[in-house]
Amino acid sequence: MSKELNIGLVGFGCVGSGLYEVLNKSKLIDATIKKIVVQDPYKERSISKTNFSFDINDILADDEINTVVELINDSDEAYKIVKKALESGKDVVSANKKLIAEHLDELIFIAAKNNASFLYEGAVAGSIPIIRNLEEYYNNDSLTSIEGIVNGTTNYILTKSNDGVDYDTALKEAQKLGFAELDPTLDVDGFDSKYKLVLLLKHAFGLNVAPEEVQNIGIRNVTKYEIAYANEKGYRIKLFSKAEKIGDNVVGFVAPHFVKKDHFAFGVDNEFNALVVEALFSDKQLFIGKGAGSYPTASAVLSDISALKFEYKYEYRKTSEDSQLSFTNDFFLKVYIGSPFVEAINQIPFYRVDELFQSDDYAYQTGWVKFSELEDYNLNHRKEISLVILPEPFKGSESLFSGKLERHRVALEV
Ligand code: HSE
Repeated sequence: MSKELNIGLVGFGCVGSGLYEVLNKSKLIDATIKKIVVQDPYKERSISKTNFSFDINDILADDEINTVVELINDSDEAYKIVKKALESGKDVVSANKKLIAEHLDELIFIAAKNNASFLYEGAVAGSIPIIRNLEEYYNNDSLTSIEGIVNGTTNYILTKSNDGVDYDTALKEAQKLGFAELDPTLDVDGFDSKYKLVLLLKHAFGLNVAPEEVQNIGIRNVTKYEIAYANEKGYRIKLFSKAEKIGDNVVGFVAPHFVKKDHFAFGVDNEFNALVVEALFSDKQLFIGKGAGSYPTASAVLSDISALKFEYKYEYRKTSEDSQLSFTNDFFLKVYIGSPFVEAINQIPFYRVDELFQSDDYAYQTGWVKFSELEDYNLNHRKEISLVILPEPFKGSESLFSGKLERHRVALEV
């Protein structure tokens, strides 16, 4: 028997209005939107004003509404709404990755206590059904890594930059197309990708990792010089969220990467997202699809709504008190660091330098850095420093260096 769903929809922006259309057009799901609550009574919308109310209690206090679909931008407000809805035993669907990454444990607890379901497929990689696959299909400990592009805005900007469009124009287009967050800093500085990675870490490895523990380096400082370097070497630049199990450790981070032509992400362009899941026996499996935009994200939300008809809940079977796994930032990466200022490059501690280049107006250095040390340099806010990861697997210190580990401070000539 499937459950009868009476939906309270919170938010009617890009995804909310998309969901309204998709749900009404699709005869596949028998669910009714009983109320829609929005914040701004004066905003022009695609359907008549009479469809809206402006007080969240019209949904929260309505006992006939058993399903709250939360699709607003403000993650603090969304947190309050989701919490109250779960506390009153209503099932909740949300696509708000920031809210979920910041409060996941608490919300899981509240949902379980009130026998409610909390689903959020639309929060990670738009239309790609990655959460439910990690949860159900990869329901064992054989996963070894998950990596990919989970932000449509930055992939759109990087694709356009490669075609010669400047950064600001590309960002404006991404905003117009409904891909970017209200505050696009979240996209370009890698926060959005980080929140999504936190959810992937939970469902792939059962790890509870706070967003503050994960380092995110975005694409804000990728310049024409990095694009030129990529073209010269036959690479493309992509913003990756990565997590990999190394022994009892899981490393995870967000940063721009140079990718080679034979890499799965090389031809993944515009707002498309792609993830590769690697497991011990199946080897690599690729998921690809639209990662942002009204209908693609709405399709994932719709799928969650459909799952609620059968009272589906995530079970978090990989989260266990006995787990030996722990999250770490302690590993080495091969990076490219470019800057118009040699002094800026020389500030970054390299443990091995592989390549140096210096011209009148730009310099770069490639080599191995300790990832945890990069945090001290606040790279998203150092406009003069561009960091892109080179296509080499990351390593623990033992495998990279024999003998004493020393910082290599002598680099380009000032
Ligand atoms: N701003 C997000 C992106 C929206 O560009 O991917 C989808 O989560």
